[in-house]
Amino acid sequence: MRIDVVTIFPEFFDVLDISLLGKARQSGLLEVTAHNLREYTHDRHRTVDDTPYGGGAGMVMKPEPWGEALDELLGEATDAATAPRASAAPLVIFPSPAGEVFTQKMARELAEREHLVFGCGRYEGIDQRVFDHAATRAEVRLVSVGDYVLNGGEVAVMAMIEAIGRLIPGVVGNPESLVEESHEDGLLEYPSYTKPAEWRGLEVPPVLLSGNHKAIEAWRHEQQLERTRRVRPDLLPPGRTPDDAALGG
Ligand code: ADE
Repeated sequence: MRIDVVTIFPEFFDVLDISLLGKARQSGLLEVTAHNLREYTHDRHRTVDDTPYGGGAGMVMKPEPWGEALDELLGEATDAATAPRASAAPLVIFPSPAGEVFTQKMARELAEREHLVFGCGRYEGIDQRVFDHAATRAEVRLVSVGDYVLNGGEVAVMAMIEAIGRLIPGVVGNPESLVEESHEDGLLEYPSYTKPAEWRGLEVPPVLLSGNHKAIEAWRHEQQLERTRRVRPDLLPPGRTPDDAALGG
């Protein structure tokens, strides 16, 4: 998968050199390039922002540097309608608290794509025409990582790259470990334990030491339901009420 990130802080993405995603980049499974938006300016101060039309607080990112950056990155790319394969057409994502919420389901969808372009806004946001123009050349989505406000899109993009990157086949050594995680089956994950069986007076639940795989599976599912009911009842599927979950039904 190819990922291009446009940002005024390319160094934010240096941490992608480490851990599993670092290995994925070394092995060629994942190609991430951070492009400095200021490289697409032409004035002495490399200006990327200006005051908002209509007044108001803060600054808005100017369209021209974004236009040049996206021209370059989408240059040879065809749009989704004419691409040989839909998955090969670039998808442009702008992180924004005003976007659709990023979920594990979206991470799975995006992991199927071959080329993602992330555009990190700062200040009060990006001139609307940047989104409108990009949408004439490629599929564009505004995506939020949650109902809170960050100072810019970089941290949100880091989170998305990690969530998407680990789903690319070969990135996580044991694909089984991707299956039994929070959100993969719509529930939160069950608690995990390792040795020793007793630590500071706290014991591992005896069922996990029983060797009875059926009982362990049932216990884990029960724990998933209980945890989900307690902290994220909104995740329970329709028809499965919090009370059903309490009963393990
Ligand atoms: N930029 C600022 N806040 C954000 C959020 N919650 N999600 C994505 N991008 C953002």
